[in-house]
Amino acid sequence: MAGQTIHGPGRRPGGERAPTSPLDTAGPAIELDHLTKSYGKRVAVDDLSLTVGRGEFFGLLGSNGAGKSTLVRMLCGLTAPASGDARVLGMSLRTDATAISRRVNLSPQETAVAANLSVAENLELVARLYGASRAEARSRALDVMESLRLGDRARDRAKSLSGGLERRLSLGMALITKPDVVFLDEPTLGLDVRSRRDLWALLAGLKGTTTVVLTTHQLEEAESLCDRIAIMRDGRLRGVGAVADHLASTGAATFEDAFLALTDEEAGA
Ligand SMILES: Nc1ncnc2c1ncn2[C@@H]1O[C@H](COP(=O)(O)OP(=O)(O)OP(=O)(O)O)[C@@H](O)[C@H]1O
Ligand SMILES: [Mg+2]
Repeated sequence: MAGQTIHGPGRRPGGERAPTSPLDTAGPAIELDHLTKSYGKRVAVDDLSLTVGRGEFFGLLGSNGAGKSTLVRMLCGLTAPASGDARVLGMSLRTDATAISRRVNLSPQETAVAANLSVAENLELVARLYGASRAEARSRALDVMESLRLGDRARDRAKSLSGGLERRLSLGMALITKPDVVFLDEPTLGLDVRSRRDLWALLAGLKGTTTVVLTTHQLEEAESLCDRIAIMRDGRLRGVGAVADHLASTGAATFEDAFLALTDEEAGA
């Protein structure tokens, strides 16, 4: 929805500033170490440990309420873990969340655009918040609008966009900062067929250069784009691997059957 807060780098709820640490240029992009998050008595992310490689296209799948968005928000430094930790680009979520937030970006499940700014202004604002010069921000905004087919709406206020167009803008706002790791939380939700296909091509172009963590309910999207896929249920990891690994571990003939075997109430009991 339009009108929500834009999360610039270095901002966390409460506004605290964390110390920075030297950027680790080798090693994995993301390492979860018993990462846990609760809301009251509800454990949304339950003791997760896994590793995502640099340049990997990583899928995060699971039923509604499985904990995907909570995990993604934690890894962007937007919400703090209850216990455990994660290293993102070699930096600890617990001590370096601000530094992490400068190097990653998120296209959130609930889009977060400034309703009264135009499409171009939203894009330029985010680029500027992440340190781009005015000219660089303008040039990047033009590129992003072209690749997301938003050019003809450049001067329109975000609040005048349809749901799918707003989602495309939100995606552009995640990609314009050229993040080392980009988290895309259901990026194709509400997109028309052409836009979805264009987006898949755009995302395929990021392969190997940017680490992408993609959450989706569209299994064919995950199958076609992701190197490996983590499947979650009730905050826990039910399996991690390539599609072939999930087929092998469940004995299912299709990825959909494998997914259901790992996430259905009865199968998971
Ligand atoms: N801010 C919050 N306050 C309280 N509970 C929350 C909050 N955010 C998430 N939860 C709970 O945490 C659990 C995980 O929610 P989350 O949004 O991470 O799931 P999800 O896998 O992204 O689901 P969906 O596919 O519906 O987007 C759910 O039980 C949800 O109700
Ligand atoms: Mg979600």
